[in-house]
Amino acid sequence: MTCSEHFDAKAREWDEHPGKRNVAQVFVCELQKHVSLNPAMELLEFGCGTGLVSMELHRQVAAITLLDTSPGMLEVLQEKIVHHDIANMLPCLGDLSAIDSVKERFDLVYSNMTLHHVTNVEQTLVTLATLLKPGGILCLGDLETEDGSFHQSEMQVHHGFDCQQLAATLFQLGLDIEHCHRSHTMEKTDTKGQTQKYPLFFLQARRPAP
Ligand SMILES: C[S@@+](CC[C@H](N)C(=O)[O-])C[C@H]1O[C@@H](n2cnc3c(N)ncnc32)[C@H](O)[C@@H]1O
Repeated sequence: MTCSEHFDAKAREWDEHPGKRNVAQVFVCELQKHVSLNPAMELLEFGCGTGLVSMELHRQVAAITLLDTSPGMLEVLQEKIVHHDIANMLPCLGDLSAIDSVKERFDLVYSNMTLHHVTNVEQTLVTLATLLKPGGILCLGDLETEDGSFHQSEMQVHHGFDCQQLAATLFQLGLDIEHCHRSHTMEKTDTKGQTQKYPLFFLQARRPAP
């Protein structure tokens, strides 16, 4: 099963899952605590899913481009956009290659629980960094390094990350690191049916203004 087929199959029930809503809400709280949003800002969410994060942010900013490879997740998002008559959330089907990195620049790029699904993490970080305006901010939320029990084995994923290592990579790409810390510890039933704790990190970096 491909990644997008996996999420297509989960899309309709995604928002009904309290754990997924809670993890999105934790990320929103971290972002709101550390980033001053304003009505002129252009945002990009990478791996938006059904829009649990961006639905909480769109009223405070000019526009949000929402990128995801799963048509099923974007279909649920689009229904919410229509239902709430939202004009400034712009869903986009695809991976980062769907964004024109020469022409498009954002004040804030963010991604919650998506990086561990990405094949080439380093290239993804390079592209995310490229998409920032000078002074622009990148916020990432994801799993800390785990033992591989978080996902079903058929899913091709990374087993979380060392936040400090990701921060070091972003620093090498020219970004200033503003936050790198544990944001939450979630509980989930693992692949063997046991309840396990999985810590999550929040990482914030900024492209220096000239
Ligand atoms: C675990 S879900 C998280 C969704 C959302 N961020 C949230 O917090 O509810 C990961 C999402 O990333 C998307 N995704 C995975 N790989 C991607 C890629 N390379 N480019 C864009 N989206 C991707 C999946 O389709 C899925 O919707």
